[in-house]
Amino acid sequence: MKELFGKVAFITGSASGIGLGIAHALAARGMKIVLADIETDALDRARIDLEERQAEVIAIPLDVSDRAAVQDAAQTAVAAFGKVHVLCNNAGVSRSVALDEATGTDWDWVVGVNLGGAINGLLAFVPLIKSHGEGGHIVNTSSMSGLRYAPGRGQGIYSTTKHALIGMSEALCADLAPHDIGVSVLCPAFVKTQMPHSGRNRPARFGGPQVPQRRPDDPLLLGAIHGKEPDLVGEYVATGIERNQLHILTDASERTEVEARLDKIRSALDYTAQRDAREASKS
Ligand SMILES: NC(=O)c1ccc[n+]([C@@H]2O[C@H](COP(=O)([O-])OP(=O)(O)OC[C@H]3O[C@@H](n4cnc5c(N)ncnc54)[C@H](O)[C@@H]3O)[C@@H](O)[C@H]2O)c1
Repeated sequence: MKELFGKVAFITGSASGIGLGIAHALAARGMKIVLADIETDALDRARIDLEERQAEVIAIPLDVSDRAAVQDAAQTAVAAFGKVHVLCNNAGVSRSVALDEATGTDWDWVVGVNLGGAINGLLAFVPLIKSHGEGGHIVNTSSMSGLRYAPGRGQGIYSTTKHALIGMSEALCADLAPHDIGVSVLCPAFVKTQMPHSGRNRPARFGGPQVPQRRPDDPLLLGAIHGKEPDLVGEYVATGIERNQLHILTDASERTEVEARLDKIRSALDYTAQRDAREASKS
C-alpha cells in the first residue's frame, strides 16, 4: 500500500512496545488507528497518547486468543471507521522454559496468543479487507527466533510459534496477492519493551498472571534494556507496508546464526542430491 493517509489500521498488542510504535508510525502517516490489547490500563494510556498526536483512534480491550472476541472487535472497528485496510497481528508473549520441562498450559498460552491470535486475526479481517476492494496489508510480528534458535534461553515454545508465523506469512503473501493485499512478516531482534515480563498478562484460563524471577544477566532482560527503540521499529513497519516488503528485519547482527541454520539446510540438500544421484546411477 503506497498511500496510507485516511486508511484504517487494526493493531493487536498495541498498548505498549512494538505495537504502540507501529501505531505511532501509522498515525503519523494519517491512518485511523484501532488499538487492541489485553492490558486495559496501558490501553487507555496508549489511546490518550494517540489522541494527543491528533490521531483518530479507538481502543478495544481484547484477548487475541479468544476467536469470538476477535470477530466482535473487527465488527467494532468497522462500526467506528467503516473499513479496515491494515491488520497488524502483533500481540505476543514469551515463557522461558526448556521444552522438556514445559507444561501443557505453557504450550496452550504461548501458542494460543502468538499463533492462535494471528489465525484469529486472519479469520476475522481477511474477508473484511477483501470485501471493500481497496486493497490492504497484513503484518505478522514474528522474531529473529523464527529465523534461528538461541540455545539456553528457554525459548522453544516461542520459537515454534515465530517459525510458524513466517511460514504463514509466506503462504499468505501468495494467496492474497491477487486481491491486492500485501503481507509482511516482522522479525525483530531485541527491542526495548516489556516482553520479558509478558507473564503479567497471562489470562486466568492459562493459569493467571505469572512473574518469573530473572537473573540480572538474563539475555532477554538485557535485550529489553539495550535493544532498538519501539518507535524506530514502528517506522520500519510503516516503510515495509509502503514498499510491500515481505520480510522486515530490524537488525543484521545475527546474520551468522541465521546463515549457520541455512548452511545446515543446504548441507542436507547436498547430501540428499548426492544420495539420489547415487541411487539413480544404480538403476
Ligand atoms: N521486544 C523484543 O525484543 C521482541 C523481539 C522479537 C519479537 N518481538 C515480538 O513483538 C511483539 C510485541 O511485543 P513487545 O516486544 O512490544 O512486548 P510488550 O510486552 O511490550 O507488548 C506486547 C503487547 O501484547 C499484549 N498482549 C499480551 N497478551 C495478549 C493477548 N492475549 N491479547 C491481546 N494483547 C496481548 C500486551 O499487553 C502488550 O501490550 C510480540 O509478538 C513479540 O513476540 C519482540
